[in-house]
Parts: sequence; C-alpha cells; structure tokens
Amino acid sequence: MNSVKIYKGNILFTKTPESFTVIKQGYIVVIKGKVQNVYKELPIEHTDSEIIDYGDKLIIPGMNDLHCHAPQFKNIGIAMDKELLPWLNDYTFPEEGKFKDLNYSKKVYQHFIKEIWKQGTTRIAVFATVHKVASMNLMDLFIKSGLGAFVGKVNMDLNCPESLCETLENSLRDTEEILISYRNKSSLVKPIVTPRFVPTCSSELLKGLGALCDKYTVPIQSHLSENKSEIEWVKQLHPKSNYYGQVYNDFKLFGQTPTLMAHCSFSSEEEIELMKNNNVVAVHCPTSNLNVGSGMLPIRKFINNNIHLGLGSDISGGHTCSIFKTMVYAIQVSKLFWSNSNKEIDFLTNSEAFYIATKGGGSFFGKVGSFEKDYDFDALIIDDSELNFLNYTLEERLERFIYVGDDRHILHRYVCGKLIEEPIF
Ligand code: GUN
Ligand code: FE
Repeated sequence: MNSVKIYKGNILFTKTPESFTVIKQGYIVVIKGKVQNVYKELPIEHTDSEIIDYGDKLIIPGMNDLHCHAPQFKNIGIAMDKELLPWLNDYTFPEEGKFKDLNYSKKVYQHFIKEIWKQGTTRIAVFATVHKVASMNLMDLFIKSGLGAFVGKVNMDLNCPESLCETLENSLRDTEEILISYRNKSSLVKPIVTPRFVPTCSSELLKGLGALCDKYTVPIQSHLSENKSEIEWVKQLHPKSNYYGQVYNDFKLFGQTPTLMAHCSFSSEEEIELMKNNNVVAVHCPTSNLNVGSGMLPIRKFINNNIHLGLGSDISGGHTCSIFKTMVYAIQVSKLFWSNSNKEIDFLTNSEAFYIATKGGGSFFGKVGSFEKDYDFDALIIDDSELNFLNYTLEERLERFIYVGDDRHILHRYVCGKLIEEPIF
C-alpha cells in the first residue's frame, strides 16, 4: 500500500501567533500519517500519488482541548448559579459520585466522546473521576474512538464527600496500576497524573503522586489559582507556602514532568515566574471562568511572559465542548481587559487565538497542531459553502466559521492521517 496521501483544498494554519499561513488550492503531502510538506504546486515526484481532493473546502488543524471533565458532561448547561466551591459541593461532587457505577459512567462517557468528536476536538486532556474501573473504561473508549487523549484518574483524599474520598494507599495504588497498564498501551491515549486540586489532596498524597510522575515519567494536570476563596483556602492549608503553585512545586508536580495548570486567574508575579522557569502550561478556560464567576486569566500578561498556553472547555464549568467557540470567548474577554485598561493591553487577534487552540495547545501531545514538516496530520475539513455566499477571503471564511459556524460544517476529522468516523460504541 502506498503510504503517501495528498490532501488538496484551501489550507489555513498558524506557524506563529502573528499570522495565518494561507494556501489557496494547495496540497498537503502526508506520509505515514505525518505531514511531509505543504505546497502551492504539487511536486512532480508526487503526481502519481493518491489525491484526496476537497475542492473549495477549508483544511485546518484539529482542535486541542487542554482541560475538561468528562464525568461532568451530564451537567453541561445547568447549575450555573454558584461560585466554585459551593458549585463543586452541591452539583459536581454528587454527579461524580455516580461514576462508581460502570453502567452509568459508560453511558455518560460514550455521549461525551461523541460530542467532542462532533465539535472537531481531535486531542484532549481530560479528568475522569476517582474511580479506577470507570477511568480505565474512559481510556478504552478513547482508544476505540481513534481520538488522542491524556486521561487522568482523579486523586482526592481530603475535604470531599465520602462517595469520592479515597484513602491515601488506595489512591496511589490505583493510580500506579493505571500507569502500568496504560502507559504503553496506545500511542494516542495515555494516562496523566491528576490531583484534583490542592484542597482535596493531603501532602502525603501530593508527595506520592510527584514520586509516581518521576518513576514513570508521566505528565500531570490540575487546577491553579482559579478562584479567590480557593486561593485563601490553600493559604490556610499550606501556610508555609508563599503561593499556590509553590505547593505543587514542593511535591514535584509543577513542571518536573510536562504539566497543565487550568485557570491561573489570579496567579501572582512569583507564580507566573515559576511557571515560566518550569515550562508549566497555563490552560485558559474562559467559558468556565465566566459561568462559575471565578476571575479570568489575563492572557496578554501570560503571552508577554512567554508562558506556554492552551485552551480548555472545562466542561461542565464551561458550557460548550467547542474549542472554536472557546476561541471566540477568549477573544471577547481579552477585549474587556483591553477596554478596561484604556486600550493599553492589546486584545487577542484571530491568529493568536487560533495558534493557542492548535499549535500552542497541540504541542502538549507532540508535534501536533500545525501542517509543518513532521507534524501529525490532525486535520478538520470545513465545508462552509452555506456561509460563503458572497466573496469572502479565505481568512474571512475561517473567521466566519469560527464565529457563526458549528459542527454541521465539519465534514471530516483526521488524527495522525487516519479518517476518524463518528464513534459507535
Ligand atoms: N477545581 C477543582 N475541581 C474543579 C472542577 O471540577 N472544575 C473547576 N472548574 N475547578 C475545579
Ligand atoms: Fe476544571
């Protein structure tokens, strides 16, 4: 079988945040699932290869969601009337408690994966619950789907309801068992260590998780400086730490292996400095921050400090799985920072938001999120003919799809060069 495939269409991607690379009626040469190059004219050596001609459609990189809670999918679009800590206690923890029942968890997880597939997410970093069996099932469902995922069994042994509270020993044992079983099982679906957040983890648990990350060289994801009451609570629990991120850092959970920290709404200068030095990725979750009333990551400050950024849907704090719509919210809230600063803080441009959702976030998964040489061919084919009824430029067509398009305009999804059909479980 010839492993060369050539995709023809209108190609748009962002090598840098500053601008789109646009190739009208261009070609992407893909060899064994990886981009070999993009061309305006097809080189002579490839003229005999299979060409998949997408005509006037747009070809863009797949979306990367760097922070999400799969077990909260049933609560999407409800329970928005409380701030973070009461929201967790009254709505979120009771829902997650149900995931002890594998039949229940399977049903929710199957619907969840179908939805992210539908919305054009091709890679995701996702929290499961504390339950080992349901978390393993979520990994198996992702493997079956063909999408890429880091999946984390959540750890919590403190300050949570009995239905979710683990013992220290069980929490570490179950986590290690998952790391051993799944770290080499799939090239696309991997485990990630997931302390829920500092308040629900004892120091012994955080220490044990840091040791597991080190032992198995696995990444870690958690929440950081999301809400003022939460930050105050962390101060009370860890009075010797100068700031929230230092607690994770003390237990080797802050960049010692690749690290995702969601929210960072109120990160201090020191915290931002440590994130930069340790190459911790900040995950911006604007929809969740608006819904749970938490605050907002000041994105220009993070960009100016060269902090690595990604976008997160943060279901069900967030109300949409669409990373396209998350981009729109990110741009809109950046305009509030802009107007509130007397226009001194620049708002996000379209190419910056697109870059963060694709190449920026994608880099957590490897060479993902661009159509440059050696990148995995993760792509979406956008059929925006319905929206393109007058003479729009290609960049305008993409902008319109992002703002006013939806899943009905996503014709095909590819991960590592493989066409991913709607998951059927
Ligand atoms: N902090 C701890 N747990 C959660 C959660 O489930 N969602 C959000 N948004 N923040 C959290
Ligand atoms: Fe979250």
